[in-house]
Amino acid sequence: MDTIRTDDLGALRAGLEGVVVAETTLSDVDGERGRLTIGGYPVEELAPNATFEQTAFLLWNGRLPRHLEETDLREGLAARRTLDPLVASLVHEAAKTGGPVIDSVRMAVATLRTTTDDLQDAGAVVAAIPTVVAAHHRISHGSEPVPPREDLGHTANYSYMLRGVEPTEAEVQALQTYLNTVVDHGLNASTFVARAIASTGSDLVSCLAGAVGALKGPLHGGAPGPALDMVIEIGSLDRAESHLRNLLARGERLMGFGHRVYRVRDPRADVLAAAAERLYASGVDRSLYDLATGVEAIALRLLEEHKPGRSLRTNVEFYTALLLHGLGLPSSLFTPTFAVARSVGWAAHVLEQRRQNRVVRPQSRYVGERDLVWPR
Ligand code: COA
Repeated sequence: MDTIRTDDLGALRAGLEGVVVAETTLSDVDGERGRLTIGGYPVEELAPNATFEQTAFLLWNGRLPRHLEETDLREGLAARRTLDPLVASLVHEAAKTGGPVIDSVRMAVATLRTTTDDLQDAGAVVAAIPTVVAAHHRISHGSEPVPPREDLGHTANYSYMLRGVEPTEAEVQALQTYLNTVVDHGLNASTFVARAIASTGSDLVSCLAGAVGALKGPLHGGAPGPALDMVIEIGSLDRAESHLRNLLARGERLMGFGHRVYRVRDPRADVLAAAAERLYASGVDRSLYDLATGVEAIALRLLEEHKPGRSLRTNVEFYTALLLHGLGLPSSLFTPTFAVARSVGWAAHVLEQRRQNRVVRPQSRYVGERDLVWPR
């Protein structure tokens, strides 16, 4: 404590920017050097190589699983995929009213039964979210939900429930790389919410229900859709430069570029770019991909002209959009798919918060009136 001066304690830090409130072994975001470490591994090392179950085990236990431990986790998640009939009917009703998929995720997570075992609860939430997302998506498009399959891994089963056909190896690899890449990212808003709720001693299900609510906000989970819309609106490469110049001249931001923390290229963009390149090379229609990479090159040149030296680079959202689009996911599923991945990171933070707990209780500075007299 002796390194913190009392005047620092009273300083106003809007958005808690720069305030360190936890020590973590889960992930490290180095914005100056453009490095992301997850559970000790550089993201480019972990994301294309780990199964999603291995990543979950790593974050929940602090080490990679042995073979049998990975099998146990995989089977444990697979056994919990089927929704309770009451939850299934709730999702059904929500999907029919045409609300966003993430609302079903929020409602469904909140209905899950809690136990006194955090790892059990984490498994229940993580197993349920893909089923909820897929069911809502299919019902809202007039199809029947596809029941989960216990013989498929977490990633393959999610894709299977969305589309009703078993994904190819290349598709599983691409989706798994995405899920691993975004599984955890420092103390972002939803993760902080999960930890703040955990700090009160509440159960893990409540922590994750709160985190889903934070993720719904467009300032947190919502940019890949607009990034893809921008490319689709441009339509052909010969229109790209004038379209982008017009946006910048109107003071608009180019979606999928720039980052609050990264001052160099977002390392997740590289991992997802490589995964997208592999996916599109496997035979997926690459017309939009080719257009997007052409648009990216022009956007980077124009952004350097627009803000010289600011180094506005491609961020994770741009390649998320391309990768998920290549996998056949519409933009309405981008944020819910982010939740499929991030639920593992949220649970890991709750487990970590339990080990170093202090109730989260920041202060506010009162700027209202005082000593008013009650009107008589
Ligand atoms: N397009 C055009 N201009 C941009 C820009 C973009 N994508 N990103 C930043 N800038 C401009 C800002 O307007 C600012 O200009 P100013 O100095 O005239 O006010 C300047 O570059 C520096 O901005 P910076 O401080 O680096 O950005 P930020 O921290 O305020 O915002 C984002 C970070 C991510 C919100 C911002 O880059 C953005 O809106 N990007 C587009 C949306 C997006 O892709 N979001 C997903 C992020 S993962």
